[in-house]
Amino acid sequence: MKVAVVRETYPGERRVALVPAVVPSLTKAGWQVILETGAGDAAGFPDDAYQEKEVEIVADRRAAFEQADVVLQVRTLGTNSEAGRADLELLRPGQVVIGCCDPLGNPQAVKELADQKTTLFAMEMIPRITRAQSMDVLSSMATIAGYKAVLEAANHLPKLFPMLMTAAGTLVASKVLVIGAGVAGLQAIASSRRLGAVVQAYDVRAAVKEQIESLGAKFVELKLDTGDAEDKGGYAKQLSDEQVKMQQAQLADVIAECDVCITTAAIPGRPSPLLVTADAVERMRPGSVIVDLAAERGGNCELSQADQTVIEHGVTILAPTNLPSEVPQHASQMYAKNLATFLLLMTKEGQLDIDLKDEVLRDTLAAKDGQVQNQRLRDMLELGPLVQPDAVPPDDHLAEG
Ligand code: NAI
Repeated sequence: MKVAVVRETYPGERRVALVPAVVPSLTKAGWQVILETGAGDAAGFPDDAYQEKEVEIVADRRAAFEQADVVLQVRTLGTNSEAGRADLELLRPGQVVIGCCDPLGNPQAVKELADQKTTLFAMEMIPRITRAQSMDVLSSMATIAGYKAVLEAANHLPKLFPMLMTAAGTLVASKVLVIGAGVAGLQAIASSRRLGAVVQAYDVRAAVKEQIESLGAKFVELKLDTGDAEDKGGYAKQLSDEQVKMQQAQLADVIAECDVCITTAAIPGRPSPLLVTADAVERMRPGSVIVDLAAERGGNCELSQADQTVIEHGVTILAPTNLPSEVPQHASQMYAKNLATFLLLMTKEGQLDIDLKDEVLRDTLAAKDGQVQNQRLRDMLELGPLVQPDAVPPDDHLAEG
């Protein structure tokens, strides 16, 4: 059985789907790994580092696809809409592709891969259950983004983060507000604290208060009357229009007092909630910085523009959409570990064995046998129920989201 790692073709993408260190775990299980030459270069993993682990280097992409039973990618078509299209003609029916494909944001790409009879596993659909934590690429990448967002903010802020008492006087610590305390938010809190900032954080789920406080930050409580704002998958529920207005107004008072605001609020499959209005930005002190991590889905800040630096009323608003690629070595290391663990889940006695009784494989399967498999994606594409003897039941955590 052969698994191919191909070069990423999305503009500016520096990650690679597999790093040399995880290759032995795959070869031990019976996989022969092939690498498109140079695939790991941008992440700091040259061909010879793979060759030391007995990876076969192939000269071109077509050869890698031709030989592979399974292709590993960081970005498949759905997250690489233009350049990714060139791969469609390289795929053969039944070939397995594992990677990120933004299924909820771009279900049409899943349909296109289904039409090629590709067996597509969308890593974004890994359920957030304990057993699947080691395969959860969203958490891995959000951890990197949360850390890097703090460094971006620090770089643009005309102040230092820590309090300093020097012979030239005392510098007051910068104030950071983190909105959304999921994976990226908690890492942003921890990283801001490590740099010495005074940190506050807000999340609509009251359950995270303890986690925020355990990182040494203050939990911002708003009066919203949201009841239980968490669904059974552990994600935030959408707020009513009235609650959104109350939230924006109350947050504006907190935002006005901070030097840095890092926003990470997200509800899976929905546009980013708007939490920082243009009015709130106007009330911030000149020189303040906003880093909006949710820009890919419209952003948490009204003024952010994906991958642009916007300056309004002296406030710098950054909205980077691919921060993990800016830390490509560690991001690839985490991503590779997630993918290898996932691939091993469908490897039995040296053979590929896709057992859909396994919840992790079932939830993650986006396309197979010419059909879009996940019912939520089918609904989005208006495809109706899946008619197959081994039909996949609707998956709870996505259906709820
Ligand atoms: P997560 O689901 O773990 O956390 C999101 C948090 O937002 C949850 O705690 C949720 O309760 C909270 N939230 C939802 N609605 C809210 C509201 N109205 N008010 C306050 N809080 C609210 O998500 P994760 O993995 O931390 O990712 C966060 C965001 O970062 C996502 O939008 C993700 O796409 C993005 N991201 C961006 C990257 C980049 O390079 N820009 C890289 C990786 C992730």
